[in-house]
Amino acid sequence: MQQLKYYIRTWGCQMNEHDSERYSGMFNQMGHSQVNKIKDADIVLFNTCCVRENAERKVLGNIGRLKHFRKQKPNLIIIVAGCMMQQPHVINIIEKDLSFVNLILGTYNIHRFPQLLEKVLAEKHSKRPLVEVWDQAKSVVEGIPSIRKFKFKAFVNIMYGCNNFCSYCIVPYTRGRERSRSKEAILKEISTLVNEGVLEITLLGQNVNSYGKDLYKEYDFSDLLGEIDKIDGIKRIRFMTSHPKDATEKLIDTIAASNNICENFHLPVQSGSNRILKKMNRHYTREQYLKFAAKLYSKIPDITLSTDIIIGFPDETDSDFYETLSLAKEVSFDNAYVFLYSKRSGTKAAESQSQIPENVKHERFDKIISELNAIAYRKNFDKVGNIETVLVDGISEKHPGSIHGRTRGNKIVTFKGDSSMIGTIVTVRILEAKRATLIGALC
Ligand code: SAH
Ligand code: SF4
Ligand code: F3S
Repeated sequence: MQQLKYYIRTWGCQMNEHDSERYSGMFNQMGHSQVNKIKDADIVLFNTCCVRENAERKVLGNIGRLKHFRKQKPNLIIIVAGCMMQQPHVINIIEKDLSFVNLILGTYNIHRFPQLLEKVLAEKHSKRPLVEVWDQAKSVVEGIPSIRKFKFKAFVNIMYGCNNFCSYCIVPYTRGRERSRSKEAILKEISTLVNEGVLEITLLGQNVNSYGKDLYKEYDFSDLLGEIDKIDGIKRIRFMTSHPKDATEKLIDTIAASNNICENFHLPVQSGSNRILKKMNRHYTREQYLKFAAKLYSKIPDITLSTDIIIGFPDETDSDFYETLSLAKEVSFDNAYVFLYSKRSGTKAAESQSQIPENVKHERFDKIISELNAIAYRKNFDKVGNIETVLVDGISEKHPGSIHGRTRGNKIVTFKGDSSMIGTIVTVRILEAKRATLIGALC
């Protein structure tokens, strides 16, 4: 079998990043090796995202550019995978306009990759892409190898798919219904990782709070977290994403009582207006969200809170927008990811006749960003003087002689140090706050 060099580029969320780690695992198992520059590659794999239109446009532009590249390297193998490929109209575009692509596969049949790649390598000069996209998952497939990007922190999927059908969101159509992995498989994977030296685990799912509902009568996400917390040698546990409608007090108590679950909660609110939340099909109210946030603050005093917000959802009025702004102030988020609503065909919100003009979306976006930045700076400033533990993850490019890492609250801290500390947990005094980061010194 030929040994080839492969290059992977990933768009989208942590779920996709972890899928790319699995593609690497399968490539390596087949004897191929990864390169960091596309120009050195014999095989290019794009793992795609379609959560917003600009993500999709960028991917199509990048695939288009590979055409020139292929001219210089006629044997180049081009593979596209991931969420975008679950949409039939995208397959049509590729088959019609980008037919130099060799292989297309979706999100449900990643485990089929080795066989499909072999087929493509055997039929190298085929004029049409080989397409294998399933329209649903057949089962949870265990045992796909992963080559993880870091040795000291790792993503672990606890479930796949989403049942929520938020009216703006394409994910339930690209990732299918919720499927939980068995707790035994999850605990075994984490124990193995910890034995290999991993200190921090991030549990992944589109809605981790509904973990286990499809498998168990009485065992839920909090129970799973409680068991993971007891794994010998684990230092940090993170999880994402939580849906507010399923977030429970038991979860707060589990975090509060644990040793290793980090004091950081990502809880996407999307909007502060009950009218819009209803249209988004989110199944919670502004008041319920605020109550949950208040409980988090009171039971876990060090908690940091982050969120996702969508601006310009169809029919959002100025007053709806101001409710989002006021909720953001009231909760005082440490960090927020703000997105302009993007129409996704096939979703309910895309059919609305009340789409918001782009200039209005942008005005609201700028307004909320400047407010959120001021809040984030204040929250960071509150940390000045604290002693924090930091998992060092790299060398600072901006500050020579410095390294950076994350606190348990997921804040980035930069401080003087050297590369030998990467992958270790150190203690740092916080000296200075910026809007997005902290500056510290080793204790
Ligand atoms: N399952 C997670 C993440 C889903 S995608 C959750 O429920 O929170 C990540 C974020 O992208 C969402 O939280 C939402 O804020 C944003 N998003 C999803 N669809 C969008 C759309 N059509 N337009 C703009 N933002 C969108
Ligand atoms: Fe999308 Fe909502 Fe599911 Fe998150 S919970 S993936 S926003 S449908
Ligand atoms: Fe994108 Fe798919 Fe993730 S649409 S955000 S890569 S689940």
